[in-house]
Amino acid sequence: MRVIVVGATGTIGSAVVAALSAQHDVVSVGHTSGAIRVDLASIESILQLFRTVEAFDALVCAAGRAAFGSLDELKDADFQIGLSNKLMGQVNLVRIGRQYVHDNGSFTLTSGVLSREPMKGSASISMVNAGLEGFARAAALELPRGIRINVVSPPWVTETLIARKMDPSIGLSAATVAQAYLAGVEGTVTGQTIDPRTFATGQRG
Ligand SMILES: NC(=O)c1ccc[n+]([C@@H]2O[C@H](COP(=O)([O-])OP(=O)(O)OC[C@H]3O[C@@H](n4cnc5c(N)ncnc54)[C@H](OP(=O)(O)O)[C@@H]3O)[C@@H](O)[C@H]2O)c1
Repeated sequence: MRVIVVGATGTIGSAVVAALSAQHDVVSVGHTSGAIRVDLASIESILQLFRTVEAFDALVCAAGRAAFGSLDELKDADFQIGLSNKLMGQVNLVRIGRQYVHDNGSFTLTSGVLSREPMKGSASISMVNAGLEGFARAAALELPRGIRINVVSPPWVTETLIARKMDPSIGLSAATVAQAYLAGVEGTVTGQTIDPRTFATGQRG
């Protein structure tokens, strides 16, 4: 399959590229580096991305920013980051990309466990993550030609915890998280929120 990976240079994205590369023709898309780049916050940039990459079988997005902060701290502009970047950026990848994806192709987006397991300070991120999961559930009903859409909802990634000098023991490795994206690309499910923790505990057959 020809698989576009947005956020290919990131912690999760680079593990997804590594996992997909053995079996698939991966097109890596960066933001500030790489031959092909996109800015999720710009619809013009997304239009240009698809004009550049043209037809594909699957798209994975492992990118998207949203602001962390308490309700007292978060300003309109902070909420807007999550809405225009992580939420509408990924929604627009689907809205525009569906014209370029082959029959029976797929989109695999990224939310995060804060949608269902919130913490103080996560209101904006939780809102965006839940929005993405709701979008995928509903969009799956409308996508034509056998096209599938799913969202991977990662927990804390071990490499991220180490980089932030936090306790890594609560995390899941990026390589394990990448298995959830593989399931989105290679599987048959649609409209689902895929929890990578099920791959760590062997709950999937
Ligand atoms: N890591 C975790 O523990 C964790 C847990 C739950 C959910 N998530 C979610 O998973 C996603 C990826 O996380 P990550 O930790 O892998 O992030 P990361 O290491 O910071 O990588 C982010 C990737 O997105 C790209 N990017 C940044 N801004 C972009 C933009 N405006 N348009 C397009 N691409 C852009 C980056 O490119 P450049 O390198 O060029 O900037 C990079 O390739 C995020 O949405 C995050 O919220 C992560």
